[in-house]
Amino acid sequence: MTSIWSLMVFFLLLSIVGVSNGGLTSRYIRKSRPSIDMPLDAFPSPKGFNAPEQVHITQGDYVGRSVIISWVTPIKKYPNTVRYWEDGKHGHGHKHKHIARAITTTYRYYNYTSGFIHHATVKRLKYDTLYFYELGRGNVTRHFSFKTPPEVGPDVPYTFGVIGDLGQTYDSNQTFEHYVSNPKGQAMLFVGDLSYADNHPFHDNRKWDAWGRFVEKSTAYQPWIWTAGNHELDLAPDIEENQPFKPYLHRYHVPHKASQSTSPLWYAIKRASAHIIVLSSYSAYGKYTPQYNWLQQELQRVNRYETPWLIVLLHSPWYNSNNYHYMEGESMRVMFESWFVQSKVDIVFAGHVHSYERSERVSNVKYNITNGLSFPVKDPSAPIYITIGDGGNIEGLANNFTEPQPSYSGFREASFGHAILDIRNRTHAYYTWHRNQDSEPVAADSIWLYNRYYFPQEEKTGASTMV
Ligand SMILES: [Fe+2]
Repeated sequence: MTSIWSLMVFFLLLSIVGVSNGGLTSRYIRKSRPSIDMPLDAFPSPKGFNAPEQVHITQGDYVGRSVIISWVTPIKKYPNTVRYWEDGKHGHGHKHKHIARAITTTYRYYNYTSGFIHHATVKRLKYDTLYFYELGRGNVTRHFSFKTPPEVGPDVPYTFGVIGDLGQTYDSNQTFEHYVSNPKGQAMLFVGDLSYADNHPFHDNRKWDAWGRFVEKSTAYQPWIWTAGNHELDLAPDIEENQPFKPYLHRYHVPHKASQSTSPLWYAIKRASAHIIVLSSYSAYGKYTPQYNWLQQELQRVNRYETPWLIVLLHSPWYNSNNYHYMEGESMRVMFESWFVQSKVDIVFAGHVHSYERSERVSNVKYNITNGLSFPVKDPSAPIYITIGDGGNIEGLANNFTEPQPSYSGFREASFGHAILDIRNRTHAYYTWHRNQDSEPVAADSIWLYNRYYFPQEEKTGASTMV
């Protein structure tokens, strides 16, 4: 009896001082304002007849020596070529420029007809080299550039940006501008939900075009590594649109064949010292499905001597303590979590929940229906799960966390922002989360991440640091 009373007093005390058995819930209160899209004409098409627009690039092969350059010409199919050249060479005079021809596609969606969507793969590029490229002809020629990554290797430093659920509101613009103002990001890990066109009547596909123009000042110059979210499904049986991912798959090409995937919705790339695996939360992943079989094979292809950092991108988070979308990722966790622990995945980035959260290193893989071990426990071989669906879209913030904060949750805050993953060598990476309301150098959450393969020590966290 005494012990029950002392326990009750203990829990009463706990509730008074606001301590939970989990990590930190940020006390930062973000002023809320309505989430509305920027108007369609906020990012108009470039001037001139048939001027190329919505330019975006992504990695075009397994190792970073190819780039897929994509763009839209609104009225005519031609020209459908890109001219490109290495910095310092052949910049003047057409005869020295390389030319790559695009694969061109169009699609219809209800009463919308797309422009001509071009995807050109430029191959056999040099590593770690600046390239220029130009699209269009005559007075509508537009110029861009990109830098190829260094050759894949274990201690190659590289810095990734991380954004999810971006949309095209004024908040989205703030997140995006924040990221663009940070010179560190060399490539973007995008964890799904791009334009939110489907939140408009008949999935107004002009919003897909507007989004392509909105993000062009980053996507034309550095590769964005794409993940499909639920807002890419664009299913609308009432208007006879039954083909999942139709606009997304026409507009965004990825190098899935290079990793022996049969679908652009799941694939992998190696870039600098990272092996990045992209999964689809909205495609079949049960045993014997193509995604299941592919992931099993791909995890066996990971070579930590070559790429020490193993990173997974997917849309619907496995560990998240927000009431919005609670446990939607649970079935995929049940399928694949033990593989991630066996493979010592370093980080899993997810989106979907419009809030920020970073987990502890936990796993929940012992459960077998009869043994009762159905809770997450600390596990040094487990990934850290980061939910970064806080790009700032039309659906607003997910500001309703479960209480008390569960023990698997390390840090959580209902704000918009983006993250930077700064890989330094095979053992250390510095990860920071940047809240939109702060100036860019402020990190509202930061952690030195230790590689699971080479240095599987427990990390220490520290919030609100300058970097
Ligand atoms: Fe989502």
